[in-house]
Amino acid sequence: MPIEFGPEYVRRLAPYQAGKPISEVAREFGLDEAGIVKLASNENPLGMPESARKAMLAAVSDIGRYPDANGFVLKKAISAKYDVPEDWITLGNGSNDILELAAHAFVQPHESVVYSEYSFAVYALATQGVGARAIVVPSVHYGHDLGAMARAIESDTRLIFIANPNNPTGTFVPAAEIEKFLVAVPPEVVVVLDEAYNEYLAPQLQYESVAWVRQYPNLLVSRTMSKAYGLAGLRVGFAIAQPGLTDLLNRIRQPFNVNSLAQAAAVAALNDKQFLHESAQMNAAGYVQLTEAFDAMGIEYVPSFGNFVLMRAGNDDAAGSRVNLALLKLGVIVRPVSNYGLPQWLRISIGLPEENTAFLNALKKALAE
Ligand SMILES: Cc1ncc(COP(=O)(O)O)c(C=O)c1O
Repeated sequence: MPIEFGPEYVRRLAPYQAGKPISEVAREFGLDEAGIVKLASNENPLGMPESARKAMLAAVSDIGRYPDANGFVLKKAISAKYDVPEDWITLGNGSNDILELAAHAFVQPHESVVYSEYSFAVYALATQGVGARAIVVPSVHYGHDLGAMARAIESDTRLIFIANPNNPTGTFVPAAEIEKFLVAVPPEVVVVLDEAYNEYLAPQLQYESVAWVRQYPNLLVSRTMSKAYGLAGLRVGFAIAQPGLTDLLNRIRQPFNVNSLAQAAAVAALNDKQFLHESAQMNAAGYVQLTEAFDAMGIEYVPSFGNFVLMRAGNDDAAGSRVNLALLKLGVIVRPVSNYGLPQWLRISIGLPEENTAFLNALKKALAE
């Protein structure tokens, strides 16, 4: 018998399935990298903002030194933008880091964590990674059922994850429902409100989650620079919460979890309103382009509030992987979601207009096969 290392709950972990990189698909299918369209990881199709590129390049000369462990300048910028004290902010190596830190800081093995069916895959990983028990609440119309989630809380529940909008389904819970939920949750249970796609919400749907942070000491709002800010490769996210939570996250955070180039670029991107505006506009137009085509083709999709759309590839459980493979052969990378329990569906990130067109043309061929 080989020796088994580590706890059983770590051995049982299924690793996160990331979107396939362009280089890998080119190698695997003998395609030219330049012709491949990747709509698989909810990245910003505009790439990084020019302001961030400049700031990052200026920071390169100092790369022989460690980054600022406290992220002084970046925290100042976040503090000014959201009108919160700097000691309410935790920086993360992407917001994924924040989600992991929350599980490690607030949950012990065998305690429980509540999240929704079809919600972001990292919630399950973070829960299992600390040996906690997952309470997965059935979704309603592919979205969060906050009433059922409040009722699912048990005496050993320490943490709740909510994605708003949710990935991979794109669903959105209106502000009034979240507020009702926050009132219902016991004050000793931590709520992580993961707003990775917040910047894509139409102005009439935007809400002041930071105002709730002032009111609820058990609320942590998580944000990322990976989506609308166009910095996915640099890995920057942050949490806003009162010091009772923030202090604990910062005790277990790696001191240099956000590197110098990332900090410099993030400061510039945070203040680049024009880029954010362009990104949201392009996304809204791309959403119309994709969903009008889906409507015309009779393809079912879940109305989305993020920078991606979940579409039904077919009515059998092999449909997602079949259509995905056909698309890969045509040089289009999208995201299969069978690991979410959605084998009939594919998630399509919204791209540049010409990328969306290339995807739709390939989809027509793939579905005709
Ligand atoms: C809902 C949600 N939260 C968090 C993340 C993590 O993103 P990052 O670690 O790049 O900030 C993602 C990425 O896909 C996401 O979809």
